Amino acid sequence: MREKRKLKRIALTGFMGVGKSTVSRRLAKILNTRWIDLDIEIEKAFGRSASEIVDEEGIDAFRSLESRALKRVIENPYLTIISLGGGAYTSPANRDRIKSSGITAIWLEAPFEHCWANIRNSYKDRPLARNRAQAKRLYDERAGDYCLADWHFLVSPGSNSLEVAEQIADQVYGIRI
Ligand code: S3P
Repeated sequence: MREKRKLKRIALTGFMGVGKSTVSRRLAKILNTRWIDLDIEIEKAFGRSASEIVDEEGIDAFRSLESRALKRVIENPYLTIISLGGGAYTSPANRDRIKSSGITAIWLEAPFEHCWANIRNSYKDRPLARNRAQAKRLYDERAGDYCLADWHFLVSPGSNSLEVAEQIADQVYGIRI
């Protein structure tokens, strides 16, 4: 798809299950632009899913492939919306790359129980959230990284992904539906 005009580029971060991909897809529709899911790019580039890589090679190996995939994605100026995996923004090097590329980081935050319910109901295997205690520990650890993002949107349990996408369109892009 060709951009009609150059839009501000954004990267969505936030905990697993918060709805980064769904919000990205809906926002891309509103803005008539392109979005990608970093985990899908990793799978395309390396031939295995994020969870397979974590299980087979460990989390450090996954983080390094994730950073490589992010670098490649950022190099494509036509990708307006990047939906990050939940751990990508915890890496200072990834944060620096996002910032120095002029990409605006957006933190989608939801209460832990909301994320956990989505994780449990999702088809996606998440090796770092296979039980509640493990997921909660990560959730608590990561708030300090996520809050370094430029924008912060709260996903309240009653709101749906379209409403969140509309809020971002309005506040970040000045586009009111
Ligand atoms: C991870 C989140 C996952 C995926 C991988 C690691 C994390 O993506 O990248 O399993 O460290 O939070 P989602 O946030 O899309 O579930």
